Amino acid sequence: MNVWTEYAADTAEEGRQSMDRMYRLQRHIYDVTRKYYLLGRDQLLRDLNCLPGGSILEIGCGTARNLAIAGKLYPNARLFGCDISDEMLKSAGKNIFASGLERRTRLAQADAVTFNPLSSFGEDSFDRIYFSYTLSMIPSWTQALAHAASLLRPGGELHVVDFGSCDGLPRLAKTTLDHWLTRFGVTRRENLASVGRDIAVEEVLLLSFWHSHRGYAAHLTLFNSAEKTVTQLS
Ligand SMILES: C[S@@+](CC[C@H](N)C(=O)[O-])C[C@H]1O[C@@H](n2cnc3c(N)ncnc32)[C@H](O)[C@@H]1O
Repeated sequence: MNVWTEYAADTAEEGRQSMDRMYRLQRHIYDVTRKYYLLGRDQLLRDLNCLPGGSILEIGCGTARNLAIAGKLYPNARLFGCDISDEMLKSAGKNIFASGLERRTRLAQADAVTFNPLSSFGEDSFDRIYFSYTLSMIPSWTQALAHAASLLRPGGELHVVDFGSCDGLPRLAKTTLDHWLTRFGVTRRENLASVGRDIAVEEVLLLSFWHSHRGYAAHLTLFNSAEKTVTQLS
């Protein structure tokens, strides 16, 4: 199977150009530099608990650092990654091949808000979907989150890790972090929990929300209970 798929037609061109400009050079040092401040990513990957044969989609997969780890943690899972940046996807493709995961991985260029999983991947729903430090970079992030929630299979889960309230950090550290994030076009989503709650109500999902690393990282999970679907069908 070819790791690449055709570009989705519904890509937001502006977002693509902006992310390509940001990551054209940075992607070469991305994984080395980000490991010290994109905290909580490995916890998210362990929490996926994907069953053998299940499908895992990362939206905003970047260099595929996370997908490569997910591939090791879940050796029988089928892996999917999409990102708006062609530049990031160049690194992602290399990483997937270097990890020997090309036979069970598909990558596609797509915008989180509008992407059509059928045309990108030939799948209409997934067992596990996650955003890792991506919602904080997407202007229409609430729509991206709602769209992802609508793509869950019965029994499926949507996981998010991103910058949290930072309430447990010293005030100076929080202010410095916010200035620095602004330079990279990143905004902490302070209302992630309440937006998640609204989506959970709309889609009839269960929700858990918590912080780690003294509030630095926020974790949201939405569960699409398989029982709910059975009840609705009967
Ligand atoms: C901070 S990086 C995180 C990469 C990866 N998830 C990780 O944890 O290492 C954010 C990623 O989101 C992608 N991105 C930004 N806006 C996007 C959008 N609207 N749709 C899809 N991906 C997007 C960027 O191109 C970038 O690769």
